[in-house]
Amino acid sequence: MTAPIQYREILRVGRSPALRGVCSVPGDKSISHRALLFGALCGGPVDIRGLGLGGDNASTVGALRALGVSVQVSGSAAHVDGVGFAGLREPAGALDCGNSGTTMRLFCGLLAGRPFTSTLTGDPSLSRRPMGRVAKPLRLMGATLEGRSDAQGEGVLPPLVVKGGNLHGIDYQLPVASAQLKSALVLAGLQASGKTRIEEPGPSRDHTERMLRFLGAPIRVDGSGRRVEIDPLGWNGQLAAAPVEVPGDLSSAAFLLVAAAVVPGSDVTVAQVGLNPTRTGVLDVLRAMSANVEVVQTGEVMGEPVGRVRVRWTGPLRATHIGGELALRSIDEIPALAVACAVAEGRSEFTEVGELRVKESDRIASIARELRRTGIATEQTTDGFSVTGRGGLPPKGGHVLPDRDHRIAMAGAVLGLLSDDETVVPSEDIATSFPTFSEILQALGGQVRRDVEAI
Ligand code: S3P
Repeated sequence: MTAPIQYREILRVGRSPALRGVCSVPGDKSISHRALLFGALCGGPVDIRGLGLGGDNASTVGALRALGVSVQVSGSAAHVDGVGFAGLREPAGALDCGNSGTTMRLFCGLLAGRPFTSTLTGDPSLSRRPMGRVAKPLRLMGATLEGRSDAQGEGVLPPLVVKGGNLHGIDYQLPVASAQLKSALVLAGLQASGKTRIEEPGPSRDHTERMLRFLGAPIRVDGSGRRVEIDPLGWNGQLAAAPVEVPGDLSSAAFLLVAAAVVPGSDVTVAQVGLNPTRTGVLDVLRAMSANVEVVQTGEVMGEPVGRVRVRWTGPLRATHIGGELALRSIDEIPALAVACAVAEGRSEFTEVGELRVKESDRIASIARELRRTGIATEQTTDGFSVTGRGGLPPKGGHVLPDRDHRIAMAGAVLGLLSDDETVVPSEDIATSFPTFSEILQALGGQVRRDVEAI
């Protein structure tokens, strides 16, 4: 008997004419996780508009349901029946976090304070990501967290078993700037006796702080944005229910904006997108590379600035250096920015971006491999890489190997818009964050179509 043929979804991408138009993108993935999770911690029903449509946010919905929270989702609208911390129930089975590091790390902090045992699992990519950074401080607060150990016997890897309850506040210096870790400690701190003080080496995204303040939690942030204090004394343990609106995801928009900066003649506007300054590094980098970037803030929702971004192609881009705080403010956009550097004139450097090695894939290795495959010179260091752009020379097409990483797949597709040959992108994982990516790119004029191929 012969084995049945298996198929996978792909995108076929070809050289594109100018991209033009106005579009919007699905809700911000980071803010959507928090809207769902904090919605469950409210003292009543919460309506969410503009929820992210990707698989990662669906993992958070599934995990909340497993804890007994009623969450109804219809398109980008959701209704969460908030139960407060005390209303969460011991789950019957493991909480499957899928590909989502944010779900796993935030739920560690949440469950560290609950008086029951929970197991958190993830897909093969998430099962390789470091969890010791959250296990260590949560253990110091009094929780029990066990995981698999890594090859060196030092790290903590999923699946994780969390036995929670009876937490006490701590003063803690984060070893890395990480919004997931910070948010886990904030969630644990809200359930602890006494104050929790957290200090980060650099300012990571602050959606947790903004939304919790909006919902009346006892949280304070100092002027630098690097120190957060939680003082739950006298607090009733429930967030104040309020309707929540999620802005469009600048990290998704980044792929369209980089495409506009590199495809000759393009003029693309993304409307209703989040402009939180901890996330807008991508716009600063594109400007530094001499792209024409126009930003108009049109309002604010839940303390989050929102507006529209327009990028017009103006000619060849200049090479640049991305490191330090700028790298932190554009960490998820580095696969997209690497594409901009690949077609810029000169050598671009990415430094202090070691965190990329522990994202959905080892992104330093994935980016370097994919750029090299298309004829672009790259060099890796332990915590960075360089890209020598080809200027006007088109990259080679071929098969992208995304390592099951949504952002590597989308970056490969954007580079394919400039190639004279066809680029084939395995596309299933794009739905992790941006399921409407190919439709929007196509509507802007991109030569991209969905297909299947036998494997
Ligand atoms: C996220 C934080 C970032 C980011 C990730 C989403 C979040 O990771 O890379 O995609 O929603 O909190 P860090 O925890 O390393 O900052």
